[in-house]
Amino acid sequence: MKRPPLLLCLLCLFGSPATADTSPPGHALASAHPAATKAGLEVLNDGGNAFDAAIAVSAVLGVVEPYGSGLGGGGFFLLHDSARNYTTMLDARERAPLAAHRDLYLDADGNVDRDRALNGPLAAGIPGIAAAWGHLAKHYGQLPLTRTLEPAIRHARDGVPLNPKLERAMTARAEAFLRYPASSIFAPDSPALSSGKRVVQTDLASTLNLLAEQGAQAFYRGSLAETLVAEVRDNGGIWSRQDLEQYRVVEREPITIQWRDAEIVTVAPPSATGVMLAQIFHMLGDDWLDGSDRDDRTHRLIEALRRAYLERARHLGDPDYVDVPLQRLTSMEYARKLMEDFDPERATRSNSLYAAEPEVGHTTHFSILDRDGNWVSATLSINGLFGSGFVVPGTGVLLNNEMDDFSAKPGAPNLYGLVGSEANAIAPGKRMLSSMAPTAVYHANTLALLGTPGGSRITTMVMQGILQFLQGAGAESLVTSPRLHHQALPDKVFTEPDMVVDRERLEAKGHIFEVTEPWGNMQVVVWNTHEVRLDAASDPRGIGSAKVEALYASD
Ligand code: DON
Repeated sequence: MKRPPLLLCLLCLFGSPATADTSPPGHALASAHPAATKAGLEVLNDGGNAFDAAIAVSAVLGVVEPYGSGLGGGGFFLLHDSARNYTTMLDARERAPLAAHRDLYLDADGNVDRDRALNGPLAAGIPGIAAAWGHLAKHYGQLPLTRTLEPAIRHARDGVPLNPKLERAMTARAEAFLRYPASSIFAPDSPALSSGKRVVQTDLASTLNLLAEQGAQAFYRGSLAETLVAEVRDNGGIWSRQDLEQYRVVEREPITIQWRDAEIVTVAPPSATGVMLAQIFHMLGDDWLDGSDRDDRTHRLIEALRRAYLERARHLGDPDYVDVPLQRLTSMEYARKLMEDFDPERATRSNSLYAAEPEVGHTTHFSILDRDGNWVSATLSINGLFGSGFVVPGTGVLLNNEMDDFSAKPGAPNLYGLVGSEANAIAPGKRMLSSMAPTAVYHANTLALLGTPGGSRITTMVMQGILQFLQGAGAESLVTSPRLHHQALPDKVFTEPDMVVDRERLEAKGHIFEVTEPWGNMQVVVWNTHEVRLDAASDPRGIGSAKVEALYASD
């Protein structure tokens, strides 16, 4: 790959972001599991592009991290097609079944039945991952699904070796697996496991093979679709054939935020995070990074987070169903209004609503940059740990419990302690609001691709990653740095043990602190066009891996 030095020099003169005119010196990939990183690199070395690699990586992640994402789930892919200089958000978010309604999870007393919202097929939205693979392969990729799905099929058939993370997750969901015979492949005491110490997913291998041979639409029509619908209904769910037939992925325009001299490209609704990041950065103001008093800056940051999370609860939902005035909500003027009652000396109170402590579920992220400058940043999910815990018999497909991301009742907290309003109420065919935020940042001739799981904490992790990157931090520090979180309700600042804050001073302003276990699993790729350098890093809190492969051959 040739890189004219003059062009690089011009770019550094004008401080432009990495553009389609330059090419990386190789490719780079970070994902939450070494087997997925390996599969992605093999596809890239086999003539595939970043989009082919994204199919391979997401398919393998669904098999080797069955607790986090998969064919029974959905997610968002942020894509950049370098030849067309085109960036888009591929929305493969689950949709509510057509028979769903506002009060689906309310019991006779009008309370939310948490068990039905989280466990079994009634908790599952209509999955989008297979449709995303079909769309990526048809419009962006170069290789057939028979090639890109091959590593996932192999891992499902040969079995996934146990690791402590997988074992812990299996134990945590053991009770749900007991309810459904086909889910016993994940039960900690399953015979297959005790013999080989591997999780073998034979039915899933056959299902993936069917999609590879017949195309991704085989998930939504034909015999596989019929089995999915029949089994869901037999086990208390409400899917219909129309639900699967009508499912479509949507390409949406990403949200672009200009802050200082950076350009942040991120998700639009039905993810809340893009709108919230725009609000947070505008509330911080352009001079926030220049402030000399760290605790004053932290105070302003927490107050901005509080307001953004309250905004999320009030206004955000699926834009195909509710009016989300993006222009207004993400404007500087609106952010100024939100900060009108900001007091530099006192914490504002969120209000007295009760919200549950967030539980940590699972989800996954990967970032890929190929040698042509195409990139993918994707966050995919089945929501909670092992989703609904329901494996559809005969298919190996583990269904999500993403319906819990709707607001089941105004003011009632979900798995992540998030509350919502009418904008995120359940409606037939509607997409549930998300926090997932695959993101790209252009700054000083450098591009960073980042994202992470973490439910409601995704927004604050991505925000901190962006802030660190803008202060010159590399991939490694983005994934390792200690984290802080506030989501309005509960009205507390959560910090990881190593986070440095002057607690006493901030407590004196009225903030309440709680130190918790570390969270997140960020995967980052950084491309510096000025120094012609690639970097990638995987969060040490997880078990993932990151790799850069420099290509010298054609130079
Ligand atoms: O879409 C969302 O916001 C959630 N379903 C994501 C869940 C998640 O990140 C769990 N991770 N720990």
